[in-house]
Amino acid sequence: MLTRGPGVPIFRQEVADMPEFHDALSHGCYVVTTSLNGRLYGMTCSWATQVDFDKVMLVLGKQSSTGRAIRKSRVFGVSVLSADQKDLAVRFGSGHSSRKDKFDGVRTRTGTSGVPLLDGSLKTFVCRLVDDADFGSDICYVGRITGFRKARKQTSPLLLSQVDH
Ligand SMILES: Cc1cc2nc3c(=O)[nH]c(=O)nc-3n(C[C@H](O)[C@H](O)[C@H](O)COP(=O)(O)O)c2cc1C
Repeated sequence: MLTRGPGVPIFRQEVADMPEFHDALSHGCYVVTTSLNGRLYGMTCSWATQVDFDKVMLVLGKQSSTGRAIRKSRVFGVSVLSADQKDLAVRFGSGHSSRKDKFDGVRTRTGTSGVPLLDGSLKTFVCRLVDDADFGSDICYVGRITGFRKARKQTSPLLLSQVDH
């Protein structure tokens, strides 16, 4: 059982409500993108990790319109945000791409299959969806990296703990 201190239990829902547990592990901030039927989708994502030398895994809530679009397009882009791109983490971290154009005024380049990738990111890559699994409120997406670019800039990566969420 989790405890708050000696003998004081923490219940599961309480943990989810406590900001100090929101970055229990260290996480970066990424903008995950796709393109479907001529529309661009993008969302901020921190629950992401590399699961092999050429694969990454994302955990996206079912409320995410980007996630739903990825399931259909079978391709996604990942832009690894740098410490000076906090504004983009905030912009892509709210609202739904299905209802508003989050890319308006944002400088991007187009990767494979029309996937938008954010200029100024530390790294960008394009992945082909190879697997997805339903975990109730979330869906886990695994993609194989098919294209990769690393920027020359030396800035540190943006961390989840540096963004108000
Ligand atoms: C810093 C930060 C990290 C986030 N990480 C995730 C995440 O890993 N998974 C997730 O489903 N939503 C995450 N979100 C929330 C989504 O970005 C948010 O629900 C977004 O509005 C979904 O947009 P969409 O409907 O255009 O896909 C995060 C938000 C912020 C601000």
